[in-house]
Amino acid sequence: MKSDRGTYERLVRPLLFSLDAEAAHHVTIRLLGRASRFDLGLRLLRPFQPKAKPTTVFGLTFPNPIGLAAGLDKNGMALPAWAALGFGFIEIGTVTAKAQPGNPKPRIFRLPEQQALINRLGFNNDGANAIAQRLRVLRDSGRWPVVPVGINIGKSRVTPLEQSKDDYLYSFRMLRDFADYITLNISSPNTPGLRELQEPEKLSELLHAIGNEAGTAAKPLVVKISPDLSPAELTAVLGICEENGVSGIIATNTTLDHSTIPPQLNQEGGLSGAPLRDRSTALVREIAAQCKIPVIASGGVFDAQSACEKFHAGAQLIQLYTGLVYHGPRLLREVMDNL
Ligand SMILES: Cc1cc2nc3c(=O)[nH]c(=O)nc-3n(C[C@H](O)[C@H](O)[C@H](O)COP(=O)(O)O)c2cc1C
Repeated sequence: MKSDRGTYERLVRPLLFSLDAEAAHHVTIRLLGRASRFDLGLRLLRPFQPKAKPTTVFGLTFPNPIGLAAGLDKNGMALPAWAALGFGFIEIGTVTAKAQPGNPKPRIFRLPEQQALINRLGFNNDGANAIAQRLRVLRDSGRWPVVPVGINIGKSRVTPLEQSKDDYLYSFRMLRDFADYITLNISSPNTPGLRELQEPEKLSELLHAIGNEAGTAAKPLVVKISPDLSPAELTAVLGICEENGVSGIIATNTTLDHSTIPPQLNQEGGLSGAPLRDRSTALVREIAAQCKIPVIASGGVFDAQSACEKFHAGAQLIQLYTGLVYHGPRLLREVMDNL
């Protein structure tokens, strides 16, 4: 495999884009899952690896600051492959306490002109028990990746909002042993009510519940926030995160602001990619100005420049999703060569 951006865009992307977006996603995960089981498979992915640039954030050492964003490998199917491609860290999930199918299909939409995606998947995932078991098998096989692994957890759809802390706690207990850090996703727009967990009282309650768990102190806790928070809401969220010793903030999840999308292309769901770039960078800058909690930037990283913007705004780490769909794993090296 030739490791240039052209190969992906000329050969692989047209094939993937000839399929429905979710089918293309399944094919990719299946191939990377297979590659994860064989040394040869992993070796074929290594030409994409960028140069190392180790950095230490919340006590963890990252070989480079570019991570895989949550949602691409929700079920933890291909951890060795992501590491072989050169990601400096991998975030799996969102995992919920109960396995769930997510929303009716179709539920992922490409907007190539806008370099964007809209998704309303709704946390389709195998559930905390099955994913813990998969991770245990991987660990026992000796193929666990050497890069930090984050596990992103969220609320099961059937669980009422008032009981959400028990739901998060269940997943936290099941998965913490496998995670270098745990992300609390309180910002997906596709689970009704979830974003209300960003309200001060509810967030405080959730962080207290997790913080009171034995062993929590040893595990960095990260909170993933929405780009649609008002300035006052953001300040309140940051205050509560600081009070509760949160280790990191991921800014941001997808947006419900679709004002840049032509009406005929619009779909219900969270918008990611280029249209999110400036909004999420603005939030990174605001967070860095207001508090000392390290920021992981996520939203509209497509090239070296959009990545540099995030670091200049104050991010310590960045994550990729939509940029990978459009530009492939060569994006990693492009970013690292220009940092
Ligand atoms: C298809 C899709 C599924 C996603 N699923 C999740 C998820 O399960 N949990 C989560 O925290 N974020 C999820 N995200 C959000 C991404 O992790 C990321 O924060 C967001 O897309 C912004 O980054 P980007 O512009 O680089 O895509 C998803 C994004 C997409 C496009």
